[in-house]
Amino acid sequence: SPDIPFYAQHQGGIATPAQDRLAFAAFDMTSTSRDDLRDLLLTWTQAAAKMTAGQPVGPTETQPEVPPVDTGEALGLAAGGLTITIGFGPSLFDQRFGLASKKPAILTPLPALPGDELQPEISNGDIGVQACADDPQVAFHAIRNFARLARGVAVLRWSQLGFGRTSTTSNSQATPRNLMGFKDGTNNIKLEDTSALADFVFVGNEGDQAWMRGGSYLVTRRIRMHIESWDRDRLGDQEAVFGRTKTSGAPLTGKSEFDTVNLTAKGSDGQTVIPADAHIRLAGPASNGGLKILRRGYSYTDGIDPRTGELDAGLFFIAYQKDPHKQFVPIQTRLGSSDALNEYITHTSSALFACPPGASTSKPWGADLLR
Ligand code: HEM
Repeated sequence: SPDIPFYAQHQGGIATPAQDRLAFAAFDMTSTSRDDLRDLLLTWTQAAAKMTAGQPVGPTETQPEVPPVDTGEALGLAAGGLTITIGFGPSLFDQRFGLASKKPAILTPLPALPGDELQPEISNGDIGVQACADDPQVAFHAIRNFARLARGVAVLRWSQLGFGRTSTTSNSQATPRNLMGFKDGTNNIKLEDTSALADFVFVGNEGDQAWMRGGSYLVTRRIRMHIESWDRDRLGDQEAVFGRTKTSGAPLTGKSEFDTVNLTAKGSDGQTVIPADAHIRLAGPASNGGLKILRRGYSYTDGIDPRTGELDAGLFFIAYQKDPHKQFVPIQTRLGSSDALNEYITHTSSALFACPPGASTSKPWGADLLR
């Protein structure tokens, strides 16, 4: 991936080409001082500006008596398109930092959704950090150095590595495949579609908090796939689950990947060709009042589930949108109760973060929030 400029109108890692690897972390503040929060966000902004340019967070030739400023494992590695995207969870706006009046009205925790089996210890958090790069060591280095720079002020709450992007965010990228073997991201919002970005992804003047203008709301969901059952399902059923052909990615009503989805076409049995419970029918804009989300997820595997001996693998789902309660929540409410995919997946973690607009040299992350 090309280098993505850090100082920009919007944060990188949203409407920029999806890189191959993910390191995500959620932090909780241990300090309750507003000054500590401001200092942390300034330190992180400066470190992110360096790392996304392929540089260490500080000089490497330092005193032998003190620990090095940068941990060193990314020295000599290219930035690999590294983006570091920050977001603030609803909990950051409780009484600790005096931020209640700065809390966007729509930054309320996601409601319980059908089929949720969420684990609190790997959900939510005060601050979310998404690091994406083509090199896993570069993405990990970013999260590790953020944790190190936060020492005494904030601690890691949970983290997640992702190894293969499951969405395209640009027309210049080929559509990758998820762990179910299907092309994923075909009908995603692409960065070339600037009107879709304005309509569905970036907050404009409509919000109640000026500091969020140009920002976006991030929803993460760790979705475990029951791969062993999926692998025993016959091909025709797998294709009916999504409403698309496995090899080409074409809708069941078309021939090639980007053919328009025809939700009304009927087969010889009188039923719609794309079944009533197909994932693309229920998730698509036609079932959701025309609303879309920008998907930017990654495949993950965390080894073997010790209880069953099965692979603990799936999709670390990431979506950006203007309003999570109008976009993600209605879609997942419908999917969670009716999606044919539910037989093969379980949502195990969930988080929501308000991602501010891009930083500038005079306005580090959180400058307008903490003003
Ligand atoms: C489409 C896979 C979860 C929203 C698709 C497609 C696949 C897929 C293969 C078709 C290709 C495409 O257009 O990208 C999966 C898998 C999931 C999952 C394997 C879980 C493990 C979710 C969730 C949401 C979601 C949780 C949102 C709540 C969408 C949307 C589309 C889509 C909006 C585009 C539909 C359209 O406009 O045609 N997904 N998905 N997906 N998915 Fe998912």
